[in-house]
Amino acid sequence: MDFKNLHFPNAPKIRTMPPGPKAKKILAAQASTEGNAVYYPKILPFVPDEGRGATIKDIDGNVFIDFYAGVSVLNFGHSNPEILKSATEQLKKLSHSLDFPTVARTELVKRLIARAPGNLKDDSKVVFGGPTGSDAVESAIKLAKFRTKRLSVIAFEGSYHGQTTMALAATAEKKYRENYAPLGPEVHFAPYPNTYRNAFKEEDPKRCTRMCADYLENMVEGGESGVLPPAAVIAEPIQGEGGIIVPPNDFLKEVERICRKNGVMFIVDEIQSGFGRTGKWFASDYFGIDPDVVTMAKSIGGIGLPLSGIMYRKDLDTWHPGAHLGTFRGDAVAMAAGAAAIDFADKNKLLEHVNKLGETTMKFLKDLAQESKSIGDVRGKGLFIGVEFVKDKKTKARWKEICDRIQLESFKKGVIIWRAGAYGNIIRIMPPLTITDELLNKGLEIFAEEVKAAEKSLF
Ligand SMILES: Cc1ncc(COP(=O)(O)O)c(C=O)c1O
Repeated sequence: MDFKNLHFPNAPKIRTMPPGPKAKKILAAQASTEGNAVYYPKILPFVPDEGRGATIKDIDGNVFIDFYAGVSVLNFGHSNPEILKSATEQLKKLSHSLDFPTVARTELVKRLIARAPGNLKDDSKVVFGGPTGSDAVESAIKLAKFRTKRLSVIAFEGSYHGQTTMALAATAEKKYRENYAPLGPEVHFAPYPNTYRNAFKEEDPKRCTRMCADYLENMVEGGESGVLPPAAVIAEPIQGEGGIIVPPNDFLKEVERICRKNGVMFIVDEIQSGFGRTGKWFASDYFGIDPDVVTMAKSIGGIGLPLSGIMYRKDLDTWHPGAHLGTFRGDAVAMAAGAAAIDFADKNKLLEHVNKLGETTMKFLKDLAQESKSIGDVRGKGLFIGVEFVKDKKTKARWKEICDRIQLESFKKGVIIWRAGAYGNIIRIMPPLTITDELLNKGLEIFAEEVKAAEKSLF
Protein backbone atom coordinates (compact mmCIF):
# COMPACT_ATOMS: atom_id res chain seq x y z
CA MET A 1 0.00 0.00 0.00
CA ASP A 2 0.98 3.54 -0.60
CA PHE A 3 0.68 5.13 2.83
CA LYS A 4 0.53 8.64 1.30
CA ASN A 5 -3.10 9.39 2.05
CA LEU A 6 -2.87 8.59 5.73
CA HIS A 7 -1.18 11.89 6.69
CA PHE A 8 -1.95 15.59 6.63
CA PRO A 9 -0.68 16.92 3.28
CA ASN A 10 2.36 19.20 3.07
CA ALA A 11 3.76 18.51 6.51
CA PRO A 12 5.51 20.13 8.21
CA LYS A 13 3.74 23.48 8.16
CA ILE A 14 4.41 26.05 10.88
CA ARG A 15 1.88 28.91 10.75
CA THR A 16 2.49 30.39 14.19
CA MET A 17 5.72 29.79 16.07
CA PRO A 18 4.83 27.13 18.66
CA PRO A 19 3.58 27.55 21.28
CA GLY A 20 0.98 29.72 19.55
CA PRO A 21 -1.63 31.77 21.45
CA LYS A 22 -4.13 28.93 21.94
CA ALA A 23 -1.39 26.54 22.98
CA LYS A 24 -0.03 29.01 25.54
CA LYS A 25 -3.44 29.32 27.16
CA ILE A 26 -3.93 25.56 27.45
CA LEU A 27 -0.41 24.96 28.70
CA ALA A 28 -0.93 27.61 31.37
CA ALA A 29 -4.24 26.03 32.41
CA GLN A 30 -2.56 22.64 32.68
CA ALA A 31 0.32 24.04 34.71
CA SER A 32 -2.05 25.65 37.20
CA THR A 33 -4.31 22.62 37.65
CA GLU A 34 -2.24 19.47 37.12
CA GLY A 35 0.51 18.29 39.44
CA ASN A 36 4.23 18.62 39.05
CA ALA A 37 4.59 15.04 37.88
CA VAL A 38 3.40 16.16 34.41
CA TYR A 39 6.53 15.81 32.32
CA TYR A 40 6.33 16.02 28.53
CA PRO A 41 5.08 19.64 28.14
CA LYS A 42 8.00 20.75 30.27
CA ILE A 43 10.32 19.51 27.54
CA LEU A 44 8.26 20.66 24.52
CA PRO A 45 5.44 23.25 24.73
CA PHE A 46 3.18 21.20 22.48
CA VAL A 47 -0.62 21.04 22.49
CA PRO A 48 -1.66 18.32 20.02
CA ASP A 49 -5.13 18.57 18.58
CA GLU A 50 -5.48 16.13 15.70
CA GLY A 51 -3.29 13.29 14.50
CA ARG A 52 -3.17 11.63 11.09
CA GLY A 53 -0.70 8.93 10.19
CA ALA A 54 2.76 10.26 10.95
CA THR A 55 1.63 13.87 11.30
CA ILE A 56 0.03 15.86 14.13
CA LYS A 57 -1.76 19.20 14.02
CA ASP A 58 -1.46 21.37 17.10
CA ILE A 59 -4.19 23.57 18.54
CA ASP A 60 -2.94 26.60 16.56
CA GLY A 61 -3.04 24.73 13.24
CA ASN A 62 0.68 23.94 12.94
CA VAL A 63 1.37 20.58 11.36
CA PHE A 64 4.29 18.49 12.64
CA ILE A 65 6.02 15.34 11.46
CA ASP A 66 5.83 12.82 14.29
CA PHE A 67 9.19 11.18 15.01
CA TYR A 68 8.16 9.72 18.39
CA ALA A 69 4.85 7.87 17.79
CA GLY A 70 3.72 8.21 21.41
CA VAL A 71 6.89 6.30 22.35
CA SER A 72 5.84 3.34 20.21
CA VAL A 73 2.14 3.45 21.12
CA LEU A 74 1.24 4.60 17.61
CA ASN A 75 3.17 2.20 15.42
CA PHE A 76 0.23 2.00 12.99
CA GLY A 77 -0.18 5.77 12.84
CA HIS A 78 -2.64 8.25 14.29
CA SER A 79 -6.30 7.65 13.40
CA ASN A 80 -5.49 4.88 10.95
CA PRO A 81 -8.83 4.67 9.06
CA GLU A 82 -9.00 0.87 8.83
CA ILE A 83 -8.25 0.41 12.52
CA LEU A 84 -10.51 3.28 13.49
CA LYS A 85 -13.38 1.65 11.62
CA SER A 86 -13.04 -1.60 13.59
CA ALA A 87 -12.64 0.26 16.88
CA THR A 88 -15.66 2.48 16.23
CA GLU A 89 -17.87 -0.46 15.26
CA GLN A 90 -16.84 -2.23 18.44
CA LEU A 91 -17.41 0.87 20.57
CA LYS A 92 -20.96 1.15 19.30
CA LYS A 93 -21.57 -2.50 20.18
CA LEU A 94 -19.75 -3.21 23.45
CA SER A 95 -16.76 -1.62 25.11
CA HIS A 96 -16.07 -3.58 28.28
CA SER A 97 -16.42 -7.19 29.28
CA LEU A 98 -14.00 -7.94 32.18
CA ASP A 99 -12.61 -11.25 30.94
CA PHE A 100 -15.78 -12.68 29.53
CA PRO A 101 -14.83 -13.65 25.99
CA THR A 102 -15.82 -11.45 23.07
CA VAL A 103 -15.20 -11.93 19.38
CA ALA A 104 -12.73 -9.03 19.48
CA ARG A 105 -10.78 -10.67 22.28
CA THR A 106 -10.70 -14.09 20.63
CA GLU A 107 -9.58 -12.60 17.33
CA LEU A 108 -6.76 -10.63 18.95
CA VAL A 109 -5.52 -13.55 21.06
CA LYS A 110 -5.46 -15.83 18.02
CA ARG A 111 -3.34 -13.32 16.12
CA LEU A 112 -0.95 -12.73 19.02
CA ILE A 113 -0.27 -16.43 19.58
CA ALA A 114 0.39 -16.89 15.86
CA ARG A 115 3.03 -14.13 16.00
CA ALA A 116 4.66 -14.95 19.34
CA PRO A 117 8.46 -15.16 19.28
CA GLY A 118 10.45 -18.40 19.30
CA ASN A 119 8.82 -21.48 20.76
CA LEU A 120 5.92 -19.43 22.09
CA LYS A 121 4.54 -19.29 18.57
CA ASP A 122 1.37 -21.37 18.43
CA ASP A 123 2.14 -22.75 21.90
CA SER A 124 1.32 -20.00 24.36
CA LYS A 125 -1.38 -18.62 26.57
CA VAL A 126 -2.33 -14.97 26.95
CA VAL A 127 -3.33 -13.03 30.07
CA PHE A 128 -4.57 -9.43 30.00
CA GLY A 129 -4.44 -7.36 33.16
CA GLY A 130 -4.57 -3.63 33.77
CA PRO A 131 -4.17 -1.44 30.71
CA THR A 132 -0.58 -0.23 31.17
CA GLY A 133 2.69 -1.92 30.33
CA SER A 134 3.78 -1.74 33.95
CA ASP A 135 0.93 -4.05 34.85
CA ALA A 136 2.06 -6.59 32.25
CA VAL A 137 5.50 -6.55 33.88
CA GLU A 138 3.91 -7.04 37.31
CA SER A 139 2.01 -10.07 36.06
CA ALA A 140 5.07 -11.59 34.37
CA ILE A 141 7.08 -11.33 37.60
CA LYS A 142 4.16 -12.68 39.63
CA LEU A 143 3.95 -15.69 37.33
CA ALA A 144 7.69 -16.31 37.69
CA LYS A 145 7.47 -16.11 41.48
CA PHE A 146 4.46 -18.40 41.50
CA ARG A 147 6.16 -20.99 39.30
CA THR A 148 9.57 -21.01 40.95
CA LYS A 149 8.56 -20.22 44.55
CA ARG A 150 11.55 -17.86 44.55
CA LEU A 151 11.63 -14.18 45.35
CA SER A 152 14.58 -12.51 43.68
CA VAL A 153 14.64 -11.01 40.20
CA ILE A 154 17.52 -9.94 37.97
CA ALA A 155 17.05 -6.99 35.61
CA PHE A 156 19.67 -5.16 33.56
CA GLU A 157 21.50 -1.89 33.92
CA GLY A 158 19.85 0.67 31.62
CA SER A 159 16.48 -1.09 31.83
CA TYR A 160 13.03 0.49 31.98
CA HIS A 161 10.06 -1.66 32.93
CA GLY A 162 7.50 0.81 34.27
CA GLN A 163 6.33 2.70 37.31
CA THR A 164 4.33 0.31 39.50
CA THR A 165 6.20 -1.15 42.45
CA MET A 166 7.81 -4.30 41.00
CA ALA A 167 8.19 -2.78 37.53
CA LEU A 168 9.92 0.24 39.04
CA ALA A 169 12.03 -2.01 41.24
CA ALA A 170 13.32 -3.59 38.01
CA THR A 171 13.95 -0.19 36.38
CA ALA A 172 17.52 0.99 36.59
CA GLU A 173 17.37 4.72 36.02
CA LYS A 174 18.23 6.70 39.15
CA LYS A 175 15.82 9.58 38.61
CA TYR A 176 12.87 7.19 38.80
CA ARG A 177 14.11 5.16 41.75
CA GLU A 178 15.62 7.66 44.14
CA ASN A 179 13.30 8.65 46.97
CA TYR A 180 11.24 5.48 46.51
CA ALA A 181 13.65 2.57 46.88
CA PRO A 182 13.58 0.02 48.43
CA LEU A 183 10.72 -1.04 46.19
CA GLY A 184 10.27 -4.75 45.41
CA PRO A 185 12.69 -6.80 47.50
CA GLU A 186 15.68 -8.69 46.07
CA VAL A 187 15.94 -7.05 42.65
CA HIS A 188 19.49 -7.00 41.28
CA PHE A 189 20.96 -5.45 38.15
CA ALA A 190 23.35 -7.16 35.77
CA PRO A 191 25.41 -5.33 33.12
CA TYR A 192 23.79 -5.11 29.68
CA PRO A 193 26.21 -5.36 26.76
CA ASN A 194 26.09 -1.80 25.48
CA THR A 195 29.15 -1.97 23.26
CA TYR A 196 29.38 1.81 22.89
CA ARG A 197 29.90 2.33 26.61
CA ASN A 198 30.07 -0.17 29.46
CA ALA A 199 31.81 -0.50 32.79
CA PHE A 200 34.30 -3.01 31.32
CA LYS A 201 35.28 -0.55 28.55
CA GLU A 202 34.91 -3.45 26.13
CA GLU A 203 33.72 -2.48 22.64
CA ASP A 204 34.20 -5.83 20.97
CA PRO A 205 30.74 -7.48 20.76
CA LYS A 206 31.97 -11.03 21.36
CA ARG A 207 34.10 -10.13 24.37
CA CYS A 208 31.44 -7.81 25.75
CA THR A 209 28.86 -10.58 25.51
CA ARG A 210 31.25 -12.98 27.25
CA MET A 211 31.90 -10.59 30.12
CA CYS A 212 28.24 -9.71 30.65
CA ALA A 213 27.11 -13.33 30.37
CA ASP A 214 29.82 -14.51 32.79
CA TYR A 215 28.84 -11.77 35.21
CA LEU A 216 25.19 -12.82 35.00
CA GLU A 217 26.06 -16.49 35.41
CA ASN A 218 28.04 -15.70 38.52
CA MET A 219 25.15 -13.64 39.89
CA VAL A 220 22.76 -16.53 39.36
CA GLU A 221 25.03 -19.36 40.49
CA GLY A 222 27.74 -17.86 42.65
CA GLY A 223 27.50 -18.55 46.34
CA GLU A 224 29.19 -15.22 47.00
CA SER A 225 27.25 -13.03 44.53
CA GLY A 226 24.74 -11.87 47.13
CA VAL A 227 21.89 -12.91 44.86
CA LEU A 228 19.44 -15.54 46.03
CA PRO A 229 18.40 -18.01 43.30
CA PRO A 230 16.21 -15.82 41.10
CA ALA A 231 12.66 -16.39 39.97
CA ALA A 232 13.31 -14.53 36.74
CA VAL A 233 15.68 -12.60 34.57
CA ILE A 234 13.84 -9.79 32.78
CA ALA A 235 15.35 -8.17 29.69
CA GLU A 236 14.33 -5.76 26.96
CA PRO A 237 15.60 -7.40 23.75
CA ILE A 238 16.56 -3.89 22.62
CA GLN A 239 16.56 -1.34 25.42
CA GLY A 240 14.24 1.57 24.69
CA GLU A 241 14.36 4.17 27.45
CA GLY A 242 17.97 3.18 28.08
CA GLY A 243 18.89 4.64 24.67
CA ILE A 244 18.02 2.07 21.96
CA ILE A 245 20.75 -0.30 23.02
CA VAL A 246 21.00 -3.31 20.70
CA PRO A 247 22.85 -6.18 22.38
CA PRO A 248 25.35 -8.25 20.36
CA ASN A 249 23.61 -11.07 18.47
CA ASP A 250 24.49 -13.88 20.85
CA PHE A 251 23.90 -12.20 24.23
CA LEU A 252 20.22 -12.98 24.76
CA LYS A 253 20.80 -16.60 23.76
CA GLU A 254 23.39 -16.73 26.55
CA VAL A 255 20.86 -15.27 28.99
CA GLU A 256 18.42 -17.96 27.93
CA ARG A 257 21.04 -20.68 28.46
CA ILE A 258 21.85 -19.42 31.96
CA CYS A 259 18.15 -19.25 32.83
CA ARG A 260 17.44 -22.77 31.56
CA LYS A 261 20.41 -24.25 33.39
CA ASN A 262 19.27 -22.75 36.68
CA GLY A 263 15.50 -23.10 36.56
CA VAL A 264 15.07 -19.34 36.17
CA MET A 265 12.26 -17.89 34.05
CA PHE A 266 13.32 -15.72 31.13
CA ILE A 267 10.98 -12.74 30.72
CA VAL A 268 11.37 -10.62 27.61
CA ASP A 269 9.86 -7.15 27.76
CA GLU A 270 8.64 -6.26 24.26
CA ILE A 271 6.49 -3.35 25.36
CA GLN A 272 8.47 -0.76 23.42
CA SER A 273 10.28 -2.95 20.90
CA GLY A 274 7.31 -5.08 19.79
CA PHE A 275 4.57 -4.77 17.18
CA GLY A 276 6.74 -4.22 14.13
CA ARG A 277 8.80 -1.36 15.53
CA THR A 278 12.11 -3.08 14.70
CA GLY A 279 11.06 -4.53 11.35
CA LYS A 280 10.15 -7.87 12.94
CA TRP A 281 6.95 -8.45 14.84
CA PHE A 282 8.92 -8.88 18.06
CA ALA A 283 12.55 -7.80 18.48
CA SER A 284 13.24 -11.18 20.12
CA ASP A 285 13.03 -12.68 16.65
CA TYR A 286 16.37 -11.07 15.74
CA PHE A 287 18.12 -13.11 18.39
CA GLY A 288 16.63 -16.58 17.94
CA ILE A 289 15.51 -16.83 21.55
CA ASP A 290 12.74 -18.81 23.21
CA PRO A 291 11.52 -16.68 26.10
CA ASP A 292 9.24 -18.12 28.76
CA VAL A 293 7.14 -14.97 29.01
CA VAL A 294 6.72 -11.94 26.75
CA THR A 295 5.21 -8.66 27.91
CA MET A 296 3.19 -6.51 25.50
CA ALA A 297 1.56 -3.08 25.69
CA LYS A 298 1.79 0.24 23.79
CA SER A 299 0.89 -0.60 20.15
CA ILE A 300 -1.13 -3.69 21.07
CA GLY A 301 -4.13 -1.33 21.33
CA GLY A 302 -3.96 -0.57 17.59
CA ILE A 303 -4.52 3.20 17.58
CA GLY A 304 -3.30 4.23 20.98
CA LEU A 305 -5.96 2.51 23.06
CA PRO A 306 -4.74 1.27 26.43
CA LEU A 307 -4.21 -2.46 26.67
CA SER A 308 -1.47 -4.73 27.95
CA GLY A 309 -0.85 -8.40 28.44
CA ILE A 310 1.59 -11.28 28.62
CA MET A 311 2.12 -14.41 26.57
CA TYR A 312 3.77 -17.41 28.15
CA ARG A 313 4.46 -21.07 27.41
CA LYS A 314 1.40 -23.27 27.82
CA ASP A 315 3.00 -25.57 30.38
CA LEU A 316 3.55 -22.61 32.73
CA ASP A 317 -0.17 -22.03 33.00
CA THR A 318 -0.66 -23.55 36.43
CA TRP A 319 -1.66 -20.50 38.43
CA HIS A 320 -5.19 -20.17 39.68
CA PRO A 321 -8.21 -18.32 38.29
CA GLY A 322 -7.93 -14.70 39.38
CA ALA A 323 -4.15 -14.98 39.83
CA HIS A 324 -3.89 -11.69 37.95
CA LEU A 325 -6.83 -9.31 37.65
CA GLY A 326 -7.77 -5.77 36.68
CA THR A 327 -11.09 -4.07 36.00
CA PHE A 328 -9.92 -2.98 32.56
CA ARG A 329 -8.63 -6.35 31.41
CA GLY A 330 -11.40 -6.63 28.86
CA ASP A 331 -11.33 -3.50 26.76
CA ALA A 332 -13.09 -4.82 23.69
CA VAL A 333 -12.48 -1.62 21.72
CA ALA A 334 -8.70 -1.82 22.20
CA MET A 335 -8.86 -5.52 21.34
CA ALA A 336 -10.79 -4.90 18.11
CA ALA A 337 -8.29 -2.17 17.24
CA GLY A 338 -5.35 -4.47 18.03
CA ALA A 339 -6.66 -7.24 15.79
CA ALA A 340 -7.39 -4.75 13.00
CA ALA A 341 -3.88 -3.31 13.34
CA ILE A 342 -2.33 -6.75 12.87
CA ASP A 343 -4.48 -7.31 9.77
CA PHE A 344 -3.54 -3.87 8.47
CA ALA A 345 0.15 -4.67 8.94
CA ASP A 346 -0.14 -8.01 7.16
CA LYS A 347 -2.26 -6.74 4.30
CA ASN A 348 0.05 -3.81 3.62
CA LYS A 349 3.38 -5.61 4.16
CA LEU A 350 4.20 -3.11 6.88
CA LEU A 351 7.29 -4.97 8.12
CA GLU A 352 8.88 -4.81 4.65
CA HIS A 353 8.18 -1.08 4.60
CA VAL A 354 9.80 -0.68 8.05
CA ASN A 355 12.89 -2.60 7.00
CA LYS A 356 13.29 -0.54 3.85
CA LEU A 357 12.87 2.79 5.63
CA GLY A 358 15.01 1.58 8.53
CA GLU A 359 17.91 0.90 6.18
CA THR A 360 17.77 4.29 4.48
CA THR A 361 17.40 6.07 7.84
CA MET A 362 20.41 4.24 9.28
CA LYS A 363 22.48 5.14 6.25
CA PHE A 364 21.40 8.78 6.43
CA LEU A 365 22.24 9.01 10.14
CA LYS A 366 25.54 7.15 9.84
CA ASP A 367 26.60 9.52 7.05
CA LEU A 368 25.55 12.44 9.23
CA ALA A 369 27.59 10.99 12.11
CA GLN A 370 30.68 10.89 9.87
CA GLU A 371 30.39 14.61 9.17
CA SER A 372 29.38 15.49 12.71
CA LYS A 373 31.67 16.16 15.65
CA SER A 374 29.00 15.35 18.24
CA ILE A 375 27.27 12.16 17.07
CA GLY A 376 29.19 9.40 18.81
CA ASP A 377 26.97 6.47 17.89
CA VAL A 378 23.97 5.53 15.75
CA ARG A 379 22.27 2.20 16.42
CA GLY A 380 18.99 0.39 16.16
CA LYS A 381 16.83 -1.92 14.09
CA GLY A 382 14.01 -0.97 11.75
CA LEU A 383 12.52 2.34 12.87
CA PHE A 384 13.80 1.99 16.44
CA ILE A 385 16.92 4.14 16.22
CA GLY A 386 19.07 5.97 18.75
CA VAL A 387 21.53 8.77 18.02
CA GLU A 388 23.95 9.40 20.89
CA PHE A 389 25.51 12.84 21.32
CA VAL A 390 28.90 13.42 22.93
CA LYS A 391 31.15 16.42 23.49
CA ASP A 392 34.16 14.50 22.31
CA LYS A 393 34.13 11.32 20.26
CA LYS A 394 37.26 10.04 22.04
CA THR A 395 36.22 10.60 25.66
CA LYS A 396 32.52 9.96 24.86
CA ALA A 397 31.52 12.60 27.41
CA ARG A 398 27.73 12.75 27.22
CA TRP A 399 26.28 15.97 25.82
CA LYS A 400 22.74 16.71 26.96
CA GLU A 401 22.75 20.43 26.16
CA ILE A 402 23.14 19.87 22.42
CA CYS A 403 20.14 17.51 22.51
CA ASP A 404 18.06 20.09 24.43
CA ARG A 405 18.70 22.49 21.60
CA ILE A 406 18.24 20.06 18.70
CA GLN A 407 14.96 18.79 20.14
CA LEU A 408 13.54 22.29 20.67
CA GLU A 409 14.74 23.73 17.36
CA SER A 410 13.46 20.72 15.39
CA PHE A 411 10.10 21.23 17.10
CA LYS A 412 10.04 24.87 15.98
CA LYS A 413 10.67 23.67 12.41
CA GLY A 414 7.86 21.11 12.67
CA VAL A 415 9.49 17.81 13.72
CA ILE A 416 8.75 16.24 17.07
CA ILE A 417 11.51 14.02 18.36
CA TRP A 418 11.96 12.44 21.76
CA ARG A 419 14.96 11.45 23.77
CA ALA A 420 16.18 8.49 25.75
CA GLY A 421 18.93 7.58 28.17
CA ALA A 422 19.49 8.47 31.80
CA TYR A 423 21.59 11.46 30.77
CA GLY A 424 19.26 12.92 28.11
CA ASN A 425 21.94 12.74 25.40
CA ILE A 426 20.31 10.22 23.07
CA ILE A 427 17.76 11.17 20.44
CA ARG A 428 15.29 8.53 19.38
CA ILE A 429 14.07 8.34 15.82
CA MET A 430 10.87 6.30 16.02
CA PRO A 431 8.07 7.59 13.79
CA PRO A 432 4.79 5.79 13.19
CA LEU A 433 5.67 2.86 10.93
CA THR A 434 3.24 4.09 8.27
CA ILE A 435 5.40 7.15 7.60
CA THR A 436 6.21 7.68 3.90
CA ASP A 437 9.68 7.95 2.43
CA GLU A 438 9.00 11.57 1.68
CA LEU A 439 7.91 12.57 5.18
CA LEU A 440 10.72 10.63 6.76
CA ASN A 441 13.31 12.32 4.54
CA LYS A 442 11.87 15.76 5.24
CA GLY A 443 12.02 15.10 8.98
CA LEU A 444 15.56 13.75 8.76
CA GLU A 445 16.73 16.77 6.73
CA ILE A 446 15.35 19.13 9.37
CA PHE A 447 16.99 17.10 12.13
CA ALA A 448 20.33 17.12 10.27
CA GLU A 449 20.14 20.89 9.76
CA GLU A 450 19.52 21.37 13.46
CA VAL A 451 22.42 19.11 14.39
CA LYS A 452 24.72 21.21 12.20
CA ALA A 453 23.33 24.51 13.50
CA ALA A 454 23.69 23.35 17.12
CA GLU A 455 27.27 22.24 16.55
CA LYS A 456 28.10 25.54 14.94
CA SER A 457 26.82 27.53 17.88
CA LEU A 458 27.85 25.27 20.78
CA PHE A 459 31.32 24.04 19.83
C1 LIG B 1 10.21 -1.69 27.84
C2 LIG B 1 9.11 -1.07 28.63
N1 LIG B 1 8.51 -1.78 29.59
C3 LIG B 1 7.50 -1.28 30.31
C4 LIG B 1 7.05 0.01 30.11
C5 LIG B 1 5.93 0.54 30.94
O1 LIG B 1 4.78 0.71 30.17
P1 LIG B 1 3.65 1.73 30.64
O2 LIG B 1 4.25 3.10 30.58
O3 LIG B 1 2.53 1.53 29.66
O4 LIG B 1 3.26 1.35 32.02
C6 LIG B 1 7.66 0.80 29.13
C7 LIG B 1 7.24 2.19 28.90
O5 LIG B 1 7.87 2.98 28.27
C8 LIG B 1 8.72 0.25 28.38
O6 LIG B 1 9.34 0.96 27.42
